[in-house]
Amino acid sequence: MSSSPDETAPLFDISGLHYRYAGAQADALADLDLTVHEGEFVAVLGANGSGKSTLARLLGGLEKPTAARHALACGHDLLVEDGRLSARRDVGVLFQNPENQLVAQCVEDDVAFGLENLAWPAADMRRRVDAMLARFGLEELRRREPHMLSGGQKQRTALAGVIAVPRRVLVLDEPTAMLDPAGRDEVLMAVREMHADGLAVVYITQEMDEAVGADRVVVLGGGTEAYAGTAAGLFADAVRVRRLGLGLPAAGELALALAERGHALRGLPLTIDELLAALGDAP
Ligand SMILES: Nc1ncnc2c1ncn2[C@@H]1O[C@H](COP(=O)(O)OP(=O)(O)O)[C@@H](O)[C@H]1O
Ligand SMILES: [Mg+2]
Repeated sequence: MSSSPDETAPLFDISGLHYRYAGAQADALADLDLTVHEGEFVAVLGANGSGKSTLARLLGGLEKPTAARHALACGHDLLVEDGRLSARRDVGVLFQNPENQLVAQCVEDDVAFGLENLAWPAADMRRRVDAMLARFGLEELRRREPHMLSGGQKQRTALAGVIAVPRRVLVLDEPTAMLDPAGRDEVLMAVREMHADGLAVVYITQEMDEAVGADRVVVLGGGTEAYAGTAAGLFADAVRVRRLGLGLPAAGELALALAERGHALRGLPLTIDELLAALGDAP
C-alpha cells in the first residue's frame, strides 16, 4: 500500500498544468496553478469551455496531464499511472449527470458499489452503507431503483456512493446543474454538511449564488486562472465579471436593477440577507 498521507501538505498541489485533447489545436488547460488545503471550500467558476470539467477529471486522476511542473493530489503524482490510481481512491469526483454515475439495481447497492470494488468485508460495508443512507436521507429509498428517483435523490445517491469510500477531498463538477430548485437545495445542503464536517471541497459551478460562501474562488478563462480571490472581490468588479463570462449572485443582480431605477444601494449585496440589510439602510 502507499505511504500514509502527510496531513500538512496541500490536498492539491498543482503547478504549470497543461492538458490538450488528442487532435485539438489548443490546450484545454494551459499553465494552471491550483493549491487546495485541508478543510477548504474552493469554488471554481468559468464560462462554458473554460476547462472546468477537464480540470475535474485531472484532479480525480481520471486523465493524464499533458504536462505539469508538478501535479500532486493527496500526495500522489498525477503524472504517473500509479499516482493516478491512488488519487482515484482519495479524491471523490461527482459529475453533473447522476444518470452516468448510477450503476446498480437499487439505491443501497449503488452506495455500496465503490466499497465492493475495494473488497470491504461485508459487515463493515453494511455499516458504512447504512451510515451513508442515514446521512443523505436515503433510508426509505434504499430498495428503490435509482432511475425511478427524482433528480435530487439520484444525485444524493451518487454522492453517497462517492463518499462511502473514505475520501480526503471532493471534486464536484456542476453537481446541481441538471436538477430542479428543490433537488439543487438538497444536494447543496448535503455538500455543505460534508464540508462543515471537515472535508475539503472543490466545487465547480455556473451558479454564482453557490460560490458566495466559498473560502476562495478561482475563475478559469481559456484554460488558465483568470481570477483567484474572494467572491466579494470577484463580484465587486462588474466589468471583469462580464468579461469572464460570469454573472452576479441573484442579490447582486437585483441591487443593480434597483440602481438602474434610481435606487442605488451602498455596496454590492451578495446574499438576500445582505440585500435586505442594504435596503434597510437605503434612503
Ligand atoms: N473530449 C474532448 N475532445 C476534444 N476537446 C474537448 C473534449 N472535451 C472538452 N474539450 C474542449 O476542451 C475545452 C474545455 O472543455 P471543458 O473542460 O469541458 O470545459 P467546461 O467544463 O468549462 O465547459 C473546450 O474547448 C472543449 O471544447
Ligand atoms: Mg463542464
